[in-house]
Amino acid sequence: MSDLAIYPLSEEHKMLRDAARDFAKKEIAPIAAAFDESGEFPHQTIKKMGEMGFMGIEVPEEYGGAGMDTLSYVLALEEISAADASHGVIMSVNNSLYCYGLLKFGTEAQKKKFITPVASGKAIGAYSLTEPMSGSDAGTMKSRAVRDGDFYVLNGRKSWVTSGPVADYIVVFMMTDPEKKHKGISAFLVEGNTPGLVRGKKEPKLGIRASATSELIFEDCRVPAENLLGAEGEGFKIAMTVLDAGRIGIAAQALGIARAAYEAAREYAAQRQAFGQPIGAFQGTGFKIADMKTRIEAARLLTYNAALKKERAKQTGERFTQEAAMAKLFASETAMYVTHAAVQIHGGMGYSKELPVERYFRDAKITEIYEGTSEIQRLVISRAELGFK
Ligand code: CAA
Repeated sequence: MSDLAIYPLSEEHKMLRDAARDFAKKEIAPIAAAFDESGEFPHQTIKKMGEMGFMGIEVPEEYGGAGMDTLSYVLALEEISAADASHGVIMSVNNSLYCYGLLKFGTEAQKKKFITPVASGKAIGAYSLTEPMSGSDAGTMKSRAVRDGDFYVLNGRKSWVTSGPVADYIVVFMMTDPEKKHKGISAFLVEGNTPGLVRGKKEPKLGIRASATSELIFEDCRVPAENLLGAEGEGFKIAMTVLDAGRIGIAAQALGIARAAYEAAREYAAQRQAFGQPIGAFQGTGFKIADMKTRIEAARLLTYNAALKKERAKQTGERFTQEAAMAKLFASETAMYVTHAAVQIHGGMGYSKELPVERYFRDAKITEIYEGTSEIQRLVISRAELGFK
């Protein structure tokens, strides 16, 4: 694992990274295979991650967070994801898709009530945008929220909600004025025990199996009007702004998966003998190792750069949409490339559940899909370049 010359880490950053690595190796790596197998949600380790400050890294201490910067977030998330991508995505959604949006758009009262338990890891946060017929084209959602006195009444079906089955608090996006299309979308803070909120079936998944994903069904679910996040009609902008932060988290998650697979492959290539020499001495394997290493380094540069731009944006207010999209696109495709190569280098052992390599391969795929597919990232990057839209 290299320390990039272009941005040498401070002592504080190194300490945090090392603490996250130690924690991940001791507490998460030993249980990862069993939780992957059972699909059980890892409540205990997530609680401990909260105690370590990992569930609200950038949240100021006054709201229960660790008060650190975006680079700290990325460093810790890579380490957690290198041990287990399921823990990684639960952490990422909690930090970016939930806490970040509330910090940026919430009122003081909302921040106190809705961030504090989640940033401290005592409660789990989720983000609910997607619907069965509205994924990449997020502006076309059908769910409706209708004002009724001091309440909004929420109706509709949301899908693919990370931590949906267990979330205590959820940011939900619904149409308040369908005629205005994306300008008629609003964001709501919903408590998990609100009557009318029904958890749908848990999705059976290829990878990140210990992270629970489900539909959320809203049936006349009454939410206090004070739980409106931002203004009515501001929901789409909030959703997109929050996804910019989320995509940096997924880039860090992908980086962690890729690094874990790479380190396993490197060790195997150096030790495993065939035809009288280590298989890494054959150019076919050695060149794979070279490409894996190079792509991981490039992914790390893009991810750190996006994190640093997000950090600067706290002062300048500038957008970091394109940097986040490039980091997520490249890191997720790197995770797929590296885990695929790692399975191949391990041969039969790469296909066996006795090693974690096959899990890395299964876990990597989702990073090319959620929080915007690779196609959506390319759309975002190219639109910014060409000035369309
Ligand atoms: N920040 C701020 N505002 C933004 C923005 C951003 N990143 N991106 C767009 N906007 C604004 C635009 O400026 C525009 O504003 P005006 O109407 O005031 O001009 C408005 O939003 C509409 O923008 P577009 O015309 O570009 O919108 P579009 O309909 O063409 O869609 C898109 C843009 C980029 C394709 C968007 O729909 C998108 O990102 N889709 C993918 C959705 C996604 O990532 N879903 C994942 C959900 S979360 C998940 O995966 C589950 C989980 O739990 C982890």
